[in-house]
Amino acid sequence: MAKTLIAFFSRADENYFGGAMRYVKVGNTEIVVDGMKEMIEADTFKIEMKNPYSPVYMTCIEEAKKDLRADARPELTNYLNSIDDYNTIILAYPNYWGTMPMAVYTFLDRYDFTGKTILPLCTNEGSGMGSSEGNIRKLAPGANVKRGLSIIGSNAANSTGAVKNWLLENGLI
Ligand SMILES: Cc1cc2nc3c(=O)[nH]c(=O)nc-3n(C[C@H](O)[C@H](O)[C@H](O)COP(=O)(O)O)c2cc1C
Repeated sequence: MAKTLIAFFSRADENYFGGAMRYVKVGNTEIVVDGMKEMIEADTFKIEMKNPYSPVYMTCIEEAKKDLRADARPELTNYLNSIDDYNTIILAYPNYWGTMPMAVYTFLDRYDFTGKTILPLCTNEGSGMGSSEGNIRKLAPGANVKRGLSIIGSNAANSTGAVKNWLLENGLI
């Protein structure tokens, strides 16, 4: 049977919302993923760093930049044993410095995505997908990487319509 996995990275704590800093309990990407779980049947996996970035936004920005420059592969708190059961993977993440957080690189490096379909979804504050789709293609060379969906993070709670259309376009609804 066709099975779908939603793998996502999302950070709560302090973030930037339309000109102001605010502490939140649930990150933007996770809000979108929670909405998506109401629309489709899928397993979910949260990509979490063993040593998470700082809750303080400005510190997090610097830590993430350092990891990007170092092409780091931060260790995760846990891993799926296998992705063999899934033929479609929805990969959701925030745009960090024009691409994905390096923890998503760790996730992609770990498995063989040959023959699988990857649907990228990126929340951001204006940079869209950035270079993330191209980077996913490099890290998962055998996968069929579809056109991604960009969502403005601070508008995550109002993204239901866009997400639904995208899932319809990709035959998941
Ligand atoms: C380290 C870091 C780097 C970011 N870099 C960008 C960027 O290059 N372009 C952009 O549009 N937004 C950028 N943002 C904003 C996030 O992509 C946006 O707030 C996103 O919705 C956060 O998702 P989350 O709450 O699920 O972690 C950055 C945020 C952080 C914390």
